Amino acid sequence: MRRLAVIPGDGIGPEVIGEGLRVLDWFRREQGIEFELWQLDLGAERYLRDGTTFPAAVRDEIASSCAAVLLGALGDARVPGFEHARDILFGMRMGFDLYANVRPVRALADSLVPLRGRSARDVDFVVFRENTEGIYAGIGGQLRRGSADEIAINEDINTRKGVERIIRAAFEYARRTGRTRVLMSDKSNAMRYAHELWQRVFQELRGDYPGIEARHLYIDALCLELVRDPSQFQVIVTNNLFGDIVTDLGAALQGGMGVAASVSSNPDHPERVKLFEPVHGSAPNLVGRGTANPVATLLCIGLLFEEFGFVGAAQELEVAIRATFEARETTPDLGGSLSTRAVTDAVLARLARPAPA
Ligand SMILES: NC(=O)c1ccc[n+]([C@@H]2O[C@H](COP(=O)([O-])OP(=O)(O)OC[C@H]3O[C@@H](n4cnc5c(N)ncnc54)[C@H](O)[C@@H]3O)[C@@H](O)[C@H]2O)c1
Repeated sequence: MRRLAVIPGDGIGPEVIGEGLRVLDWFRREQGIEFELWQLDLGAERYLRDGTTFPAAVRDEIASSCAAVLLGALGDARVPGFEHARDILFGMRMGFDLYANVRPVRALADSLVPLRGRSARDVDFVVFRENTEGIYAGIGGQLRRGSADEIAINEDINTRKGVERIIRAAFEYARRTGRTRVLMSDKSNAMRYAHELWQRVFQELRGDYPGIEARHLYIDALCLELVRDPSQFQVIVTNNLFGDIVTDLGAALQGGMGVAASVSSNPDHPERVKLFEPVHGSAPNLVGRGTANPVATLLCIGLLFEEFGFVGAAQELEVAIRATFEARETTPDLGGSLSTRAVTDAVLARLARPAPA
């Protein structure tokens, strides 16, 4: 049986992951979709209790025995240095070499799109964010810390291998899913060395995909175009930092942080563990109120189903979620008044009694 490691994490993480597990349980009971759950006590509480962040033994067991990890969010004001969050998140993304962070940006209802004159049809693209390198690689240092002459450096790491594989993954995804447009975004006009490599590799690889329109925009222009006319994009590939930022913009286009899901994987090693996470963080302002939106996590369950071949279940779940949007059965971030649990109840009720076709 497929093993799924579950790390609820910090803040609203446990609240939304609990809802995801209720939906998973429904599909287990009703459709026999089985994942063996392995609950992991990792996060800020554990770190503050005994100093544990991400033990090597846990990392190795995930790598050897798990098909996937479901992670809530990490980040707690009591750990201002982010030690545990860095060890757990980077321990998986970089430790398992999950270089492709894939974030679908798809609005599931017209009412969720904040742009004037735009509908859900206009917001449907996928971002491929490089997930192991760039300025998040953790190389740098501080000199004369705390003095007026302080220097702080983070290096932007871009390897030929790293750039090539994420761009190729984006093209391959486009080809596999029948999409005809791939856009690469960088800042090669200002970052002459690192991002010139992105330009060169993109120009080389586009030749391998003759049926796919390969386009380039600088990241600042991409942000402008995403707001002006998101319908022009199908697949976007970019580096770690720009991908992090541009997918929050994407989340806003599809309805906000409460409805954005992601999966990280290594497309060269499909057998390797995959990491499913809502795009949002631990949302300290919502903790304990019971109003965090569970939909991002429910959409992660949908991505999990898709990845493991349960495409019909993923579609059913999406139809049920769409129906709750249409009925305005939402948490306050989307203008509704339902609780976290009540939104999941509404989705489960629609799963149990699908609307007539
Ligand atoms: N992958 C991760 O674990 C991850 C990602 C981003 C931020 N963080 C961490 O989370 C903490 C808070 O960061 P932040 O405030 O910048 O980002 P955040 O995503 O936690 O919150 C940003 C805004 O979105 C709202 N929001 C987030 N999730 C929501 C949900 N499910 N339903 C409704 N509204 C939601 C919040 O209320 C807030 O207004 C920090 O410690 C940060 O480092 C973790």
